[in-house]
Parts: sequence; structure tokens; C-alpha cells
Amino acid sequence: MRVSLEKITKDFRKVRVLQEINLDIKDGEFVAFLGPSGCGKTTTLLIVSGIYKATSGLIKFDDTIVNKLVPKDRNIGMVFQSYALYSHMNVYQNLTFSLMLKKKSKQEMDKAAKETAEMMGIGHLLGRKVGMLSGGQQQRVALGRALIKKPGLLLFDEPLSNLDARLRIHMRSEIKKIQHDLGTTAIYVTHDQIEAMSMADRIAVMNEGIMQAYDTPSNIHDKPRTLFVATFVGNPPMNILDVTLKKENGKTYVNLSGGLSLEIPPERTPEFIPEKVKMGIRPQDLEIGKKEGLPYNVFMIEPTGRDDVIICENKGFRFTCLATPGHNIKEDDKVKLAFDMGKVQFFDADTEKSLLWN
Ligand SMILES: Nc1ncnc2c1ncn2[C@@H]1O[C@H](COP(=O)(O)OP(=O)(O)OP(=O)(O)O)[C@@H](O)[C@H]1O
Ligand SMILES: [Mg+2]
Repeated sequence: MRVSLEKITKDFRKVRVLQEINLDIKDGEFVAFLGPSGCGKTTTLLIVSGIYKATSGLIKFDDTIVNKLVPKDRNIGMVFQSYALYSHMNVYQNLTFSLMLKKKSKQEMDKAAKETAEMMGIGHLLGRKVGMLSGGQQQRVALGRALIKKPGLLLFDEPLSNLDARLRIHMRSEIKKIQHDLGTTAIYVTHDQIEAMSMADRIAVMNEGIMQAYDTPSNIHDKPRTLFVATFVGNPPMNILDVTLKKENGKTYVNLSGGLSLEIPPERTPEFIPEKVKMGIRPQDLEIGKKEGLPYNVFMIEPTGRDDVIICENKGFRFTCLATPGHNIKEDDKVKLAFDMGKVQFFDADTEKSLLWN
């Protein structure tokens, strides 16, 4: 099923919480809505489901306008953070609840329950009361209940937040695999960028009711269209600094504080240069050394198990960089930071839009 949102807005008591959301989802595509708390992810999902009505705009499934359809007529399956299961019923009864409402025969329900439970790896638990299952098993029942109707569209709202870290990673790949095998279109709401990056074909990044970007995970990471996307996606976050750019003899340079000037390679040179510019560089694109580059003091070292996060400081300004374990950098060391100028980003400081990717 294809889904398209055209100029969707939503007001709650005259407060606009969604600003003209436009989105096209292809048949079989897995799309993540990513953004901080309160940005409008759930509201958008509930508008797609029909639980909320849009204040204005159109929702289309394939080529049909569905604005007026109630949720049960939209051919959707939903999975929430709170599993919303009937804990006094067993797994079979939970799975087949919607089929029972549709007055399906016992035979049909048995077959569907068996197939779905097997696919979810809970075939042996059909007779067990849901209240006596682990969190991961309950999550599988919730997913199975959404899938048993063979919906054209799956809607997920932070479905893994209640699970421990290990199980979350496991369920992440399991959901992705089942969705891929079935070819069902999916929308997955999360504020966890790793979840969005690892599961989605495309990510819609939202902030304050505005769709900031809608693109593949690699473009979201490598070609952020706004300062918000650049700093929200990526861990540790991108370093941002105020700079000025100047052109000289056909080349463009960035002036950093301390009088240092670096040449920008042509592929990273903005066509238009506003007065105030912000430069972004990811921690992994900064090389920490002792010979060349900007002088900094090592302020703090945070081991993460893989790379150490090194926070450097100069005149109150801080940079985050990474160093592989085995480095001999210590707190209070004087180091130099070298920039990979082929990886820098530039933003208009006023509009916060990228000067490279718009
Ligand atoms: N029923 C409601 N009545 C009034 N305001 C609401 C209602 N539901 C949501 N809002 C407001 O709309 C905005 C978007 O909320 P929404 O629940 O969509 O955010 P979210 O991105 O899902 O956040 P979270 O990650 O915390 O779940 C928020 O400012 C919220 O306070
Ligand atoms: Mg939400």
C-alpha cells in the first residue's frame, strides 16, 4: 500500500502542532518518524491511523482519500509502546480478537493464530495467559495481533521502549525482517536515532511540528539539510562553530578563531555565502594529534568501550572528537585538532539551512 500525506496540519485548541506535513511512502517501504519528544510524531501517526482527524490536508492510501474512514476500515495494524494486550486472556485469544469481532470461523482463526504465532516464535505459548509472559514475548504477541489481519500498513509507536537493551536490538532486526518478508508498508515512530537509522528505508526527521528532512539514512547523516538534522542525528553529535568564509583568487577559505584559515575543497564550497555561517564537523572527522592543527586542551576523556570520546577546549569553546583505545592522550594534555575539510558542513546561521544540500 502506498501512503501519501498532503499538507497535513493539526491544531489542538488553536495551537498548531503539525505544520503542513508532506510525505510519500512507497509500497513496501519502511519509514521512520524521528524527532525529539513533543515534535509531533505520534500525532502524525494517529492521523494516518484515523484515530485523530487532520485539521487540514489529505491522507491517501494508494489513490484513495481516506480522511473520512474510521480506523477499522483503513486496513492497518498498530503496535504501541504499551502493548495494550488483554492480560487475562491467553495468547490465542489476544491474537484472534480482531478476527472474532469479524465473526471468522474457528477453523480460520486456528489457522491464522498458528501461522502468526509460528512466525513470531511464540507457537508454543498459544495457551498461556498474557500476564504470565516476559516483556519480549508480550511484544511478539502485540506484533502478531497487528499482523494477523494481514494489514496493508503497519504503524508502530515506540514499540521497543519497554524492553531491555539487548532484547531491543534483537526485536529491531526481527521486526525489520518480518516487515521485509511480508512486504507490508510500515511507519515506525521513534526518538532513537539508531533505531531509525538501522531499520528504515527512509527517515522523516521532525522538529516542532515541521518536517525537517525526508531521506535515506545515509543522506540524513551525510547530507543534512538543516542544522537541526545535523545535530540531532549522529552520536556523539556534530560539532558546530561560528565562522566566516572568504573567497580569494578563486579559492574559498574558512576563518576560524585564533586567526587560522583553512582552504575548503571545491565539493564542499557553498555557492552562496551569507554573512554569518556555522560550520559543522563530526567527531569522527577530526583528527587529534600533537603536530598540526588548532591548539586545544584536553578537558575530559569518556571511555565508551569502543572509541574514547575526547572533549577538548580552547577559550571556553569545546570540541568533541574520538580516539581509538590505546591512544596515550590524557586530561590536561595540549593537543592539536586537524579537520577533514572534505567532510565539513556549512549552514546559514540565520535560516539554519544547509548551504550545501538545498
Ligand atoms: N490530545 C492532545 N491535546 C492537546 N495537545 C496535544 C494532544 N496530543 C498531543 N498534543 C501536543 O502536540 C504536540 C505533539 O505531540 P506528540 O504526542 O505528537 O509528540 P511526539 O513526537 O509523539 O512526542 P513523544 O516522543 O514524547 O511521544 C505536543 O506539543 C503535545 O503536547
Ligand atoms: Mg509519541
